[in-house]
Amino acid sequence: MTNKLLVIPAALAAGLAVTPALAVHEPRVEPEHPAPEYAVECPEGTADAGACKVDQLTYDGWKTFKIECQQCHGGGAMGSTFAPNLMVRFNEDGVDYGRFLYVMNHGYTGHTGAMPSMEKNPRVQKNKDALYAYLKARADGRLPNGRPPKPE
Ligand code: HEC
Repeated sequence: MTNKLLVIPAALAAGLAVTPALAVHEPRVEPEHPAPEYAVECPEGTADAGACKVDQLTYDGWKTFKIECQQCHGGGAMGSTFAPNLMVRFNEDGVDYGRFLYVMNHGYTGHTGAMPSMEKNPRVQKNKDALYAYLKARADGRLPNGRPPKPE
């Protein structure tokens, strides 16, 4: 009882009151440039990325995700038994570009499990912005699951 009364004001003071889950999603870095953007065009109502057109950045992100992340986070980042759905983390838990960059380089252990650091993974380092663009397109509901066609 007493504990709870002490914990709540501490969380308020830290500015975490708005989204209590945010505690897991700190710290973040201050990005050096604005968040990378994706370009995706899909026929209305399609449930297959194969029907869409994507830019090179988003395509590279999809490809990198498939090689480096899918084994834990599931196809299309929809989650598995041991790693979370990343669309939910982006949309409901406040994962933004700064948090994403932090997680890529440092990894962290949260309530679900351990996210490994990707600091020494050259493919991930080279494709960080591509990964973010792909995941953001997924989280924004602009890119369905599946393999997007390679841009011309
Ligand atoms: C070995 C399994 C594994 C791999 C591989 C992996 N992840 Fe994770 N990741 C996790 C787990 C587990 C969590 C959740 C940790 C928690 O919150 O408890 C997580 C969390 C995250 C988060 C959420 C951060 C937050 O603050 O909530 C992001 C973003 C993320 N991973 C991106 C990626 C990307 C991008 C890749 C590929 C480059 C990747 N992960 C590869 C296991 C993995």
